[in-house]
Amino acid sequence: MSETTGKGSWSPKHRHPLVGELKVPGDKSVSHRALIFGALAEGTTSIRGLSDGEDVGSTRRCLEQLGAHIEDCGELVKTHAGEHWSELRVHGTGLEGLKASKRTLDCGNSGTTIRLLMGVLSGHPFASKLTGDASLRRRPMKRVAEPLRVMGAKIELADGDHAPVKLEGGRLQGIAYESPVASAQLKSAVLLAGLRAQGETSVLEPAPSRDHTERMLRHFGVKVGAEGSRVWIHGGARMKAAPVRVPGDVSSAAFWLVAACIVPDSRLKISGVCTNPTRSGVLDALVRMGAKLDIHQAEVGPGEEPVADIIAAHSQLVATEVTPQEFPKLVDEAPILAVAATQARGTTRIRGAAELRVKESDRMEGTVKMLAAFGAEARIEGDDLIIPGPQALKGGTVDPNADHRIAMAGAVASLIAEGKCKVLDPGCAQISYPAFFPTLNALLQG
Ligand code: S3P
Repeated sequence: MSETTGKGSWSPKHRHPLVGELKVPGDKSVSHRALIFGALAEGTTSIRGLSDGEDVGSTRRCLEQLGAHIEDCGELVKTHAGEHWSELRVHGTGLEGLKASKRTLDCGNSGTTIRLLMGVLSGHPFASKLTGDASLRRRPMKRVAEPLRVMGAKIELADGDHAPVKLEGGRLQGIAYESPVASAQLKSAVLLAGLRAQGETSVLEPAPSRDHTERMLRHFGVKVGAEGSRVWIHGGARMKAAPVRVPGDVSSAAFWLVAACIVPDSRLKISGVCTNPTRSGVLDALVRMGAKLDIHQAEVGPGEEPVADIIAAHSQLVATEVTPQEFPKLVDEAPILAVAATQARGTTRIRGAAELRVKESDRMEGTVKMLAAFGAEARIEGDDLIIPGPQALKGGTVDPNADHRIAMAGAVASLIAEGKCKVLDPGCAQISYPAFFPTLNALLQG
């Protein structure tokens, strides 16, 4: 038995093998895009399996403030976190149809919301103000503002780099943008602005980032060119509503996959997980580490993301190296991969991980601190995260610093730690996975 105590703390009351079948929430990245693209399309977009996390709720609220009409329908789905509707219908306004919001757009904790909306609003001829919570207001926005300004948007940032963002959109000119970072949020913002720009807009990245935007643009009838890590579109294309079935979030699934691998006698099946190759680096890394993963690809409809049912079982792990080129494919999974690495024979190196410093918290430091709470050693060398193994974990208290992924990774680590463990503020998991702690509690009850 275990307990979740809202803002307080969570502790595993028993250590127990994890056995069962699970579904994870709809993919967060795909969910944001489904709502945004649905709002910009002509016609009504039906979305099934949308993430029930708070971040996606922020995107929905902002779009509604901008005049999009979004309707809950279908059946009520019960999860360990409560109920939500199985289907949403977004009544699109077309590419020029959003209306100015008198109130500031509150993007909460969500980097994808603020950055993608900056791209969208750059092509709308009115002023907007966007902000977010304390974590979002610390994250870099200049990287997105710079190319959008070159395209013609007027953007003012607090201290030159942060939200609140004051933005005035208008007539845009396409650009050939060479991005200094592999970032799907940045790439997507420029492409979304490019939809309303004159001529061609292209983005070249140092390594390919997740391609959900490109896939969904094509699904909505927009031509997108892609070669290596360069993508391009032509302004003036029209977006046509198309049904979206959101696959399960591989970033949420990763917590269960690692938990099953490190807790003796565990076996978990997670169905319907997104296996988009630009996104599923954590699966590749775990397979290299010797994780027993059975990955059964499922049939999907045209234009849909690839999906698989995955069975994970307790495994003897060995260390791996994640290269800087591979890193963007598992950027959100670094904290939980680091937990797996503590149980692997040899030293794991997650290289080129600098982007971790500008996530919901500094996840480079946060991951090292989370492992240190369990008496485990990990260190930072330049932009690399180094985790020796195997290490026995001791009881400890994790303060996730309001970061959902650190809280969930800490909870998984606590399952194999000897002694009393606590994860503070488990409620922060609501950002991406409201049912995480209740599901873990249910699994620990056997
Ligand atoms: C996301 C892209 C990634 C990822 C984030 C979601 C997206 O951020 O970390 O959780 O939906 O495009 P960056 O684009 O900043 O790397």
